[in-house]
Amino acid sequence: MAERCFTVVSGDVLAQLRSAPSEYFDALLSDVPYGLGTKQPSMPEIVAYLVGGEMETGGDFMGNKWHVPSVNVWREVMRVLKPGAPLLVNAAPRTEDLVALGLRAAGFEIRDIVMWMFAESMPKGHAIGKALDRAAGAKREVLGEGAARCVYLARGEKCPGHGDANGKYGETVHAAATAPVTDLAKAWDGYGTDLAPGYEPVILARKPIVGTYVQNVIAHGTGGLNIDGCRIPRAADYGAIAGARGDSFNARGGWPKNVIMDAAAGAELDAEVGERASGIAVTRNGGGGFIFAGQKGHGPRPDTGYTDTGGPSRFYKYCAKASTAERHMGVAEGANGHPNVKPIDLTRYLAKLVLPPTREGEPRRLLVPYCGSGSEMVGAILAGWDEVVGIEREAEYVTTARARVALAETNPRAFEALIEGDLERGDKVDERQIGLFGGDNGGS
Ligand SMILES: C[S@@+](CC[C@H](N)C(=O)[O-])C[C@H]1O[C@@H](n2cnc3c(N)ncnc32)[C@H](O)[C@@H]1O
Repeated sequence: MAERCFTVVSGDVLAQLRSAPSEYFDALLSDVPYGLGTKQPSMPEIVAYLVGGEMETGGDFMGNKWHVPSVNVWREVMRVLKPGAPLLVNAAPRTEDLVALGLRAAGFEIRDIVMWMFAESMPKGHAIGKALDRAAGAKREVLGEGAARCVYLARGEKCPGHGDANGKYGETVHAAATAPVTDLAKAWDGYGTDLAPGYEPVILARKPIVGTYVQNVIAHGTGGLNIDGCRIPRAADYGAIAGARGDSFNARGGWPKNVIMDAAAGAELDAEVGERASGIAVTRNGGGGFIFAGQKGHGPRPDTGYTDTGGPSRFYKYCAKASTAERHMGVAEGANGHPNVKPIDLTRYLAKLVLPPTREGEPRRLLVPYCGSGSEMVGAILAGWDEVVGIEREAEYVTTARARVALAETNPRAFEALIEGDLERGDKVDERQIGLFGGDNGGS
C-alpha cells in the first residue's frame, strides 16, 4: 500500500504551483474563490482575464479580497496534472460562467456541472417596497418582531447573518415586519432584486486525454470517474419477474447523477411528486414494456429494472450542509472561522468520484488549491486518497486546515460518526441513501 501523506502548504496558489513537479497529480478538487463582489465585469475586462489577467469583480462575498483563479493559475494546474485528470471545482451560480471560461481558456474540457441543491438558505438582495419608502423618507408601521422568523434562531443556533459585518443579512432576515406607506411602496411591496440560492454548481472538467481514453488510462492511470464507488444505493428486487432481464439494474445502485441534494430539498421534491414506481431506462419497442427485439440477442423479454417505489429523491446522492459541530471539530482553538466551510459528506463524495484505482507502490495524488479550512482535504482523506496537497494563503485558515487534516488522518471515524449522527438528528432522508459510504472508505 502506498504511503499516505497530507500537506497544507501556506502561500499563494500560483507561486506554490510554480514549484510543483509536472504531471504529478491525478485529480483536482477545489472550492475556489467565487468573485462575488458587486462589480459586473465589462467585456474588455473579461477579455483581459481570458489572456491571463486578474478578474476584477470587486472582491468576493463578505468583503473578502479574493479573485476567481486567473487563467495563469489554471495553466499551472494544467502542467502539474496528469493527462486525463478530472477536476471538480466549486463555484457560485452568479460567477460560475467566469470560472468555467477561465478553465476553458487554459485548455481544460468542461464535462459537466454538478448541482448541489439545498432547501434552506438566506434570502438575497433588497426588498424594493422598503427601499422606496426609505427613499421617500416615509416611516413604516412596525408589525412584529423579525427575529422570530429566523430559522436558525428558532432552532437555537447562531444565525450566519450575524457574521456579516455590514449587517446585510441581519437586516433582511431579522428586521421587524413592516407595512408599506407610500403608494409606490404599496405597489412594489413583495418585490425583491434577487432569488434565494437553492444550489451550488460544481464544475466537472478534465485535462485533455492523450490518444484514446484507453491509451490514456494505460499510460497515465487517469481519465475515468469512480462510478461504482459513488453509486446511489437502491432497494431493488432484481429477478422478481421470472425470466426477466436486468439491463437497467445494477446491484451496487444507480449511476451517480449530476445532481446532489440535501434532505430538505429531497423531502420537498418527494412531497411535490409523491410516491412512484421506478421506470426502466432502456430502449423499448414502443409499447408493452419490452426491450427492443434482438437487443443483446435475448429477444423481447421484460426488463425488471429496480422494482422499488418511493419519492424521486431516492435517485440522488444526499448531502446536508455542514453542521456547527462538524465545522468546528478538531480545530485547535475550538472555532473554525472560515465563512465558506463545505460539508465533509459532500467533499468526501466528490473526492471519491475522482479517485482512481489503487496502484502498486504509487500513491494517488490529489491537488486542493484554495483549501481554506481544509474541508476538501478532510473529505479526500476519508475517501481514500493517499497523498493530498492543499494550498491556502491566509495563516488563520492554514492553522485550522492543518488541525482538521491531522484529526482526519488519525481518527477519520470522528468525522464519519458526525456525518452519520447528523442524519440521525431528525433530518428526513431515505435510509437507502445513507448507506452509501457506511464503513467503506476505500476506493473501488
Ligand atoms: C471558498 S474558500 C475555500 C473554503 C473551503 N471550502 C473550506 O471548507 O474551508 C477559498 C479560499 O481561498 C483562499 N485564497 C484566495 N486567494 C488565494 C490565493 N491567491 N492563494 C491561496 N489561497 C487563496 C482564501 O483565503 C479562502 O480560504
